[in-house]
Amino acid sequence: MHSHKAISKTMGIVIILVVIIAVLVGIIVYLTQPSAPQVERKLLIYHWWTAGGEKEAINAVFNIFLQQYKDVEIVENPVAGGAGAVMKAVIWGLLAAGTPPDTFQVHAGGELKEYVDAGYLQPVDDIWRELGLEQVIPPTLQSMCKFGGHYYAVPINVHRSNVLWYNPKIFNELGIIEKYGDPRTWDMYKLLEVARYIKQQRPDIAPLALATRTKWPLTHLFEDLLALHGGPEIYVKFWTGQFNYNDPNDPVNKAVREVLIVIGTFIKEGLVNSNHPELEWDQAAALVMQGKAAMYIHGDWVAGYFIANNAKYGEQWAAAPLPKNIFIVLSDSFNLPAKAPHVEIAKAWLRIVGSKEAQESFNLIKGSIPARIDVTLNYPDPYRPETAQDFKTATLIPSAVHGGITKEAFVTELHNILTSMVTAISTGTSVEDAANTAMASIKAAIVNTGLPNFWKGVSFEYFITRP
Ligand code: BGC
Repeated sequence: MHSHKAISKTMGIVIILVVIIAVLVGIIVYLTQPSAPQVERKLLIYHWWTAGGEKEAINAVFNIFLQQYKDVEIVENPVAGGAGAVMKAVIWGLLAAGTPPDTFQVHAGGELKEYVDAGYLQPVDDIWRELGLEQVIPPTLQSMCKFGGHYYAVPINVHRSNVLWYNPKIFNELGIIEKYGDPRTWDMYKLLEVARYIKQQRPDIAPLALATRTKWPLTHLFEDLLALHGGPEIYVKFWTGQFNYNDPNDPVNKAVREVLIVIGTFIKEGLVNSNHPELEWDQAAALVMQGKAAMYIHGDWVAGYFIANNAKYGEQWAAAPLPKNIFIVLSDSFNLPAKAPHVEIAKAWLRIVGSKEAQESFNLIKGSIPARIDVTLNYPDPYRPETAQDFKTATLIPSAVHGGITKEAFVTELHNILTSMVTAISTGTSVEDAANTAMASIKAAIVNTGLPNFWKGVSFEYFITRP
């Protein structure tokens, strides 16, 4: 028989063993338990800023972001191709597949609206409220970011589409301004006259630089000439399809045809560089800086390009808004996709985008002016102070090629129609015939893309901000 003492000793050992086993099991369970899911500290971002001036500008914003969010990895996806010509298709694919990034570059206006209409974005009203953006972003830009009563993007800048860039050395040598006056006051026919004169005097250079490899810079030229020649109302009616496109005598049809004839004449008479089918926008800008072309009509990211390339203002480049009293507006912004994988980090990015500090650094380099009116900058060039002033005093209309006013499908059709017109003229078709073909294709594109319904219920006055 065991004594009581022996029994209690055995019990004691059993209890100790049970406790030890329990502790060991506890430790094992603790160690093998899946840990709480680790939140990735990443910002997946898409943009198309890869050219001179562009990449430096976005890098400046990345640096500001990383100073505040040291632990976040920026997963950058730069997709080369000016104006987002390539990136937009990539983004639509990602959104359709349900695998969007955390944020992507988008133009305020119609381009943004298309993503909103498709249900791919979530509102960012909270960021606007938190940063007090309604107090510092001008009303025209506010309405380009707001659809159905909600903000869907934070704008970082304002670019101007309608600028004549010229080489002052060539202009001085040929006495262009003495002979033809300030380019800010030229009309479309004066521009043609000047180009002809330059060709006659300096047959070794291109009067006007052109780039058509990615097509859109040609449509950009068309957009600027349509505003110059037709004025704000005709411009807006055309890009929104709010005119009688079946009537050849409609003033919009007439103005568009006249612009096509002038562009065609530039091609027919060899008033542009013959290698335009090989060039992207920045390579055409380079021709002006190098004195190989006298003029270039393009947006003011060209200023950023010249500055990044240390081109001297007054010698290698100068800028004249064309015309001065119209400002074709576009704005680069960032958004928040509905299925963004890292929402908090994306919001942190948007706060930086909307901050004074980022807008200051970005715009100094980029060639644009800040979206915020409370950021004053010491611009390294005389062009920006002028355009910043014009933004307050000129008539504002949104850019079509850069997502402000028209349907992407329509502008894409225009890229093809205009490029075909230029190719036809270069290979022997008469300017008149090529313009007629283009007019017929434009009419078909208006119908096929459903352009007149895009802004249903919105009057054309919505797109015009008068001083
Ligand atoms: C953008 C600019 C950019 C330009 C050329 C435009 O659509 O708004 O920021 O520099 O394209 O890539």
